[in-house]
Amino acid sequence: MTDATPVWDPRQYRRFDDERDRAAGDLLLRLPAGLDPEEVWDLGCGVGQHAALLKRRYPAAVVHGLDTSAAMLAEAAQRKDIIDWVQGDIAGWCPARPVDLIFSNAALHWLPDHQGLLARLVGSLAAGGVLAVQMPMAHETRHHGLLRAVASKGPWAEALAAVPRMAALLPTETYYDVLAGEAESVDIWATTYLHALTGPDAVLQWMKGTALRPYLSALDGNAPMQVAFVSALGAALCAAFPPRPDGVTLLPFPRLFLVARR
Ligand SMILES: C[S@@+](CC[C@H](N)C(=O)[O-])C[C@H]1O[C@@H](n2cnc3c(N)ncnc32)[C@H](O)[C@@H]1O
Repeated sequence: MTDATPVWDPRQYRRFDDERDRAAGDLLLRLPAGLDPEEVWDLGCGVGQHAALLKRRYPAAVVHGLDTSAAMLAEAAQRKDIIDWVQGDIAGWCPARPVDLIFSNAALHWLPDHQGLLARLVGSLAAGGVLAVQMPMAHETRHHGLLRAVASKGPWAEALAAVPRMAALLPTETYYDVLAGEAESVDIWATTYLHALTGPDAVLQWMKGTALRPYLSALDGNAPMQVAFVSALGAALCAAFPPRPDGVTLLPFPRLFLVARR
C-alpha cells in the first residue's frame, strides 16, 4: 500500500457498482476457456464481488480475497460464498503455493514499481497459470487533472500539498514487454468507457468514492475548508462535464487490461 491509497468507504464506492463492474466483466471474458484453477487469488478484492464470481465459476477452487481495508473485507465476509478473506498488502503478498489464477481489478495502480510487481506476480503463478489485471488510467483523465489543479490553488493548497498524488501508469508497451519476458502469452488492450452517470454533481460523487478520499482526509480537521474545496472542485467538474440534455453526465474513463499466461 502507498501513502496515496485512500481509506475506503464501501457505501460510497458501491454507488457506482455497475460502472466499475463493467471492466471486471470484460476482463473475466478474456480468461482462457478450459482454465481449471485450484488456487485463485483476487488481489485488492474490495467488497469481494469478483472473488465470489470466481468461486461460482470455479467451484472446486480455493478462492482467496486479499485487501488492506478492514471495512471492505467486513462487507466481503458477509457473502455466503466460501472464500478465504485475508487482510494484507499486495506489496508483501507471498502465496504459500503456486497460484493458478491471479485476478486484480482496479487495485494494482495504487502500488509502485509495476515492472517489479508484475514480474513477481507472474513468478507466483503455476505453469499454465493466468494473471488477469485491469487498471484505471486515471492519472491521464480530465477529472484527475482538475482535481490536481484545484488542489494546488486556493487556501487549501498548503494543507493538500502533502497528499501523495496518484502516479501515472507506465507506457502500455512497457507492460507488454515486462509480461512478454515472463509469460508464454500476453493479451493487452485499453478501452475508454463513457460512464453514463446520473444525478447532480455526478463526477464529484464518482470521485468521492476513490480519488478524492485522501484529499478529504487531509482536510478532516477543518470542515469549512473541506466544504470550500469540495465546492470549488464540484464547480470545475460541472463546467468540464456538463449534463447531456437528458440529464446524463458522460465520464470518459480509460482502462488498461492485461491477461498473461505463464
Ligand atoms: C478501487 S477498489 C477495487 C476493489 C475491487 N477489486 C473491485 O473491483 O470492486 C481498490 C481496492 O484495492 C485495495 N487496495 C489498494 N491497495 C492495496 C494494496 N496495496 N494491497 C491490498 N489491497 C489494496 C483497496 O483497499 C480497495 O479495496
